[in-house]
Amino acid sequence: MLPEPERVARLEAALPQIEAAVAGETDPVAVQATLACLLWETLVQANWCGFYRRIGEDLLAVGPYQGGMGCLRIPFARGVCGACARTEATQLVPDVQAFPGHIACDDATRSELVIPVSAGGRLRAVLDLDSPHPDGFSAGEARLLEGLVARVLGNTLEW
Ligand code: SME
Repeated sequence: MLPEPERVARLEAALPQIEAAVAGETDPVAVQATLACLLWETLVQANWCGFYRRIGEDLLAVGPYQGGMGCLRIPFARGVCGACARTEATQLVPDVQAFPGHIACDDATRSELVIPVSAGGRLRAVLDLDSPHPDGFSAGEARLLEGLVARVLGNTLEW
């Protein structure tokens, strides 16, 4: 795995291109699909990269993603994604085996980062990143991704 400062530099360098790719797009699926593709190319430590969309008060369903097959539905009560949706706070989990209730979609996953996505004052989705490496994501990467989703999904319509 790349050292953390190199990963942050690589993500920082990619952000202007990623934002340019979705500039002006207001359809959330179009933006999510494009982010899943481009973040997958950038975050090379990930084995899963994509979105779970809110489809009810307390329920997520899988959205655009890259990687192995993910769970189709996740209640807010379950897993790292559910914790993110419930608390609307980023979940940075360096060791998924130490996270109570973690959902093991892929046995190879060792660490996870989940970022809340809000628009119109409501939690609409989460961005889920999994890695087969322990401690695969950093607080620096989390902050950059929080900014990205706020800028490119915060004003999208028709959720
Ligand atoms: N590990 C996640 C489930 C999503 S998949 O792994 C793609 C969780 O505990 O929420």
